[in-house]
Amino acid sequence: MCGIVGYLGDTEAAPVIFESLKRLEYRGYDSYGFATLKNKEFFIKKGEGKISDASIQNLSRGLPGFMGVGHSRWATHGKVSAENSHPHTDCNGDFLVVHNGIIENYQELRKELKVKGHRFRSDTDTEIIPHLIEEYSELGFEDAVKKAVSRLKGRYAIVTLSRESDKIIGVRRGSPLIVGVKNNVKDSSKGSGKGLSKKRKEYFLASDIPAFLKHTSNVMYLDDEEMVVIDRTGRGIKFYSMENGKEIEKRIVNIGWDPGQAEKNGFEHFMLKEIMEQKDTIRMAINQNMEDIERISKDIKNAFGTFFTGCGTAGNVCLAGEYIFSKVAGKHINFIVSSEFPNYHHFMTDKTLLIAISQSGETADLLEAIEAAKKKHVRIISLVNVMGSSLDRKSDHSFLINAGPEKAVASTKAATSQLALVTLLAYACAGKLDEGRRLLIETASKVNDMINPRYEKHIRGLAEKIHSKENMYIIGRSLNYPMALESAIKIQEVSYIHAQGFAGGELKHGPLALIDKGTPCIALVANDEVKNDIISNAVEIKSRGGYIIGVAPENNEVFDYWIKVPDVGNASPIVNIIPIQILAYHLAILRGHDPDYPKNLAKSVTVK
Ligand code: AGP
Repeated sequence: MCGIVGYLGDTEAAPVIFESLKRLEYRGYDSYGFATLKNKEFFIKKGEGKISDASIQNLSRGLPGFMGVGHSRWATHGKVSAENSHPHTDCNGDFLVVHNGIIENYQELRKELKVKGHRFRSDTDTEIIPHLIEEYSELGFEDAVKKAVSRLKGRYAIVTLSRESDKIIGVRRGSPLIVGVKNNVKDSSKGSGKGLSKKRKEYFLASDIPAFLKHTSNVMYLDDEEMVVIDRTGRGIKFYSMENGKEIEKRIVNIGWDPGQAEKNGFEHFMLKEIMEQKDTIRMAINQNMEDIERISKDIKNAFGTFFTGCGTAGNVCLAGEYIFSKVAGKHINFIVSSEFPNYHHFMTDKTLLIAISQSGETADLLEAIEAAKKKHVRIISLVNVMGSSLDRKSDHSFLINAGPEKAVASTKAATSQLALVTLLAYACAGKLDEGRRLLIETASKVNDMINPRYEKHIRGLAEKIHSKENMYIIGRSLNYPMALESAIKIQEVSYIHAQGFAGGELKHGPLALIDKGTPCIALVANDEVKNDIISNAVEIKSRGGYIIGVAPENNEVFDYWIKVPDVGNASPIVNIIPIQILAYHLAILRGHDPDYPKNLAKSVTVK
């Protein structure tokens, strides 16, 4: 949560930072702030609300200089206000900091610093950092940052500037921070960069790659407990370990993403664009090294206990994985939601295998689960979208799901890619890899046929009928029970309709009492052994007045509204969730909400 950026180069920093921050807005959109540095003077601007609602001209005016920082906030400590938005400075305005994460011991540090005479202007945990740097400033900027950071507890990433220095410093401890490097700057922009060599590099620091993807796809990854120092004078970059202070060698990696993938490309919202991209992403997800698939599936088979972990949508994919492995491979895998993992892992050993699923690879609860598992020497296999993310780097083996950047808060294409890969692994585990691949290739092609404007229009028609309802229920059984839970998350998070998913069989144990005349209820149906049972559940709801929406390969007399999906056997979770994603999107639009920026949420949940 929160997006941070830094820039040092040969063009005016403010517009670069503004554009980069707009691309990170999905991480937090309560308020924003910028600062540039020129001739030993800071220029700072802050505002409330979404940065994309602000004008670049107004913001850039009065922000001169070729280096600077920016921040898009998702409030944790202190209300949404200009005072609480970043960057924060020390007493004399000599140091400034943008920060993502939480400083757990900020209250005691604040007390200590106040006693020493420091004056605080905000309610944030962040503000203690520039004051700590000020406190140790006699050590010089780099050492003062090291010393300040050694006093902090929690997970965070910071980027900091000093008025007196030409350096930009970033520190990573538990929250993402990536360096983008652009080589061979052709020319400096108008009126800037006089006398700069044509080969000087431009550097970007950001919480996520899309922030600078327009400029470069060459990245250098910081690991936890590392600091990066970029020096404008020599245009050099150095990495240091925060543990022993030693310099670390780093490689430049090309992540192979194309800048267009992080843009809306004519779609009004990222969410719809990403839903539509599922025409291709399912196929890309199973484009894996088949030897790795075989090898890891053997490990899963032989492990003395295999577990899934993930949060939110990724957690629902884990639960679906439990069912898919049971049904396809006869293999028992338990799902432990990541936030509960530290409370339920005591029996694990070095023979246990943990499969972690995450789009971002930066979710704090998931990373804590990984840490807890690692202490028990558990082996970690991950299914992750972001190359070089914390999860990718902490895993013994990672499968990249190849979905490309996912920017809408609601996870759509990443979820179906994860489902496809889990299904492939289950088939491999059953010794039926070729059958699994054939099924998934066929599913990808049927998804391609399914998602078209006519289909979307049909679902929009349903959204028009039900968008004023305040409650909705979704039922599924077997492989589609986790998709009922996932449907509920999708509808809740973008339309704010109260939606709940249930196992069809659970209805009569309580939820049936919630059904009134006209309550919309979605039944997720597949041509499988539970088809008749889920249809019976739909009948039970209908007899209590419910309005039945059937997502199914075939129509049925119990359905008031039918959304057709292809019959793809054990890949049914993939095709059944897609129409619900489209429905959630249109419900949000019809209710006047921006589906890309749901209230109170952020894309990457990097705080506990
Ligand atoms: C998905 O629609 C949600 N916004 C959320 O539940 C998300 O899936 C969860 O926070 C996990 O994120 P991750 O996949 O990046 O770990």
